Amino acid sequence: MTEMVEHDDTALAFPPPRRCPYRLPDEYPELRENSPVQRVLLPTGRHAWIVTRYEDVRKALIDPRLSSDRGDPDFPHMVELAKSDNDSTLSLAGMDPPVHTRARRAVVGEFTVRKTEALRPRVQQIVDEAVDAMLAGPKPADLVRALSFPVPSLVICELLGVSYADHEFFEDRTSTMLNTTEPPLARQRAFFDLQSYLDELVTAKEAEPGDDLLSRQAAKPAEERSYDHAELVDLAFLLLTAGHDTTGNMISLGSLALMQNPRLRDRVIAEPGRTLDVVDELLRYFSITDLITVRIAKDDLEIGGQPIKAGEGVFALGGSANRDPAAFERPEEIDVERGARQHVAFGYGPHQCLGQNLARMELEIVYNTLFRKIPALRPDASLDDLPLKNDAAIFGLHALPVTW
Ligand code: HEM
Repeated sequence: MTEMVEHDDTALAFPPPRRCPYRLPDEYPELRENSPVQRVLLPTGRHAWIVTRYEDVRKALIDPRLSSDRGDPDFPHMVELAKSDNDSTLSLAGMDPPVHTRARRAVVGEFTVRKTEALRPRVQQIVDEAVDAMLAGPKPADLVRALSFPVPSLVICELLGVSYADHEFFEDRTSTMLNTTEPPLARQRAFFDLQSYLDELVTAKEAEPGDDLLSRQAAKPAEERSYDHAELVDLAFLLLTAGHDTTGNMISLGSLALMQNPRLRDRVIAEPGRTLDVVDELLRYFSITDLITVRIAKDDLEIGGQPIKAGEGVFALGGSANRDPAAFERPEEIDVERGARQHVAFGYGPHQCLGQNLARMELEIVYNTLFRKIPALRPDASLDDLPLKNDAAIFGLHALPVTW
């Protein structure tokens, strides 16, 4: 069991910080080499295991004995949860098969390449408007506020069928809720505002369905409905949180890498049709979701020769896997010709990211548009001064001052 621990000299304090936007924790190479499944001490005082090798991470993420049940009292959360947080199901992300399989099947058709491509003109318009607004504003600008927060938030508005009149409210509350530099009370208020907004949104879609994801679920005959009212609100909330911070942080970090790597930036400008390769390599390289593929063992098992007992927590570290030299040659280099598609930045197995086609398209459009419109974009701070999100489950930058 992941019991409270008084003292343990052998357990590594987890998570270790990233010291630079381009580096993963310094401890990973040594762990992959010498202790690939390592016992760690979480900030909550509980123990868990971290898995650091690519092959072991993939095996762990398809092992049915490792569960996503975040309501399990032994689940290895990074912070102690309040009672009300425990009540949140996290929709699909907190389910196990076969319940998960049915619930995912009901919405997977909303995220196909074809469905995603249908959103392309609107995503392009959102990005054009955001970049033009930044260009029209004062210099230096904060790329995080100008692009990384608004773009994913407005795209999710499209997906969920949020009316245009509510965009500003939605964007404001979402960025407050997800911004770890905001005071806790303001973030909590934004969370409750959004929850009651999504509740009303689902009620409105049930009464008068439109042409959007929530409406299509709500309009199904009762016996075919996979999501009742409360479950649909949870799903909307999951899509909002899963699709926002992730894409936003990749907008910031990817743009930073392109600004600091003129050859790569010029390739993006000259050959926008090949930017998807850049997107996948940057996803692998930054691995912002290193810490989110977390499971709880429901049975005894073994990973990489290490016995894991039922009740113990497991972090399958996607970032460490994506920098494993056994899977990627020269993993510390950005090499857009490597064909990085087998990276695990979107996870692996049954919970693999549902929104990955959408995320790839958003990033492709942002990088292409940003550097076509502002080829001379450059950071207005030194790398050492950029505020890193070591205080959040998803890595990124709190701010990115830019000028041109
Ligand atoms: C799941 C990463 C964007 C929706 C996941 C998982 C990862 C991930 C690693 C697996 C979690 C696990 O195994 O426990 C990312 C990254 C993104 C991104 C790196 C952007 C760069 C999006 C977007 C959406 C989305 C845009 C939708 C609007 C979801 C959902 C799940 C998920 C619904 C849960 C799927 C399930 O449990 O079956 N994502 N994601 N994600 N993602 Fe994403």
